Amino acid sequence: MKNIAIDGPAGAGKSTAAKIVAKQLGILYLDTGAMYRAIGLKALKLGINTRDISAVEAILPSTSVEIKYVDEVQNIFLDGENVTPFIREHSVSMAASDVSAIPSVRLKLVELQREIAKNNDCILDGRDIGTYVLPDANYKFFITATAEERANRRFKELQEKGQSVSYDDVLTDIVTRDKNDSTRAFAPLKKADDAYEFDTTTMSIDEVVAELLNRIK
Ligand code: DC
Repeated sequence: MKNIAIDGPAGAGKSTAAKIVAKQLGILYLDTGAMYRAIGLKALKLGINTRDISAVEAILPSTSVEIKYVDEVQNIFLDGENVTPFIREHSVSMAASDVSAIPSVRLKLVELQREIAKNNDCILDGRDIGTYVLPDANYKFFITATAEERANRRFKELQEKGQSVSYDDVLTDIVTRDKNDSTRAFAPLKKADDAYEFDTTTMSIDEVVAELLNRIK
């Protein structure tokens, strides 16, 4: 079984590049951030403070997160409902980062991620794939870019989707999430010692894809 891990901060280009690489290699793409987003979305819907560990933990036993592929595109189901269209909303990003710091949330989702990786050749993107989820992945990458460039990319993406949010808010969100994700105690955002790291600030997506494929081949 072949597994490729791509970790790095939000907006580094992981998911766009990973989707293309998956298609070119004919393997599955698993966006692990979507799972944390689904739990964050549920907490928001229920009006739960996403930093309140016991309140979030209380909803876990009755929460189901499933991944289904429809025409090779990952769809995420929360308690049986397809929430794919809603998880990318700006408000959900910080909620996802908050709930992802809670160990029991991570343990629940990591189990699902490992199960999918065990049964499929796949490329996974996230924060802790190379360090924690799949320490024995065949290939590991850690990709970065400046916070300003990452905010630019995110801002354009949100604008294209018609979400009204300012560049400054997106930048603040990126910087706060970087800090949240890299300083949490359990499985933080971190480069695995054996991961190949590169900076995508001045790279196009095609160049990022080429860099990944070169290493994989
Ligand atoms: O990749 P993303 O922006 O969709 O991820 C949303 C949040 O989920 C991110 O801020 C941190 C968390 N996350 C994580 O902790 N571990 C992962 N493997 C993927 C995402």
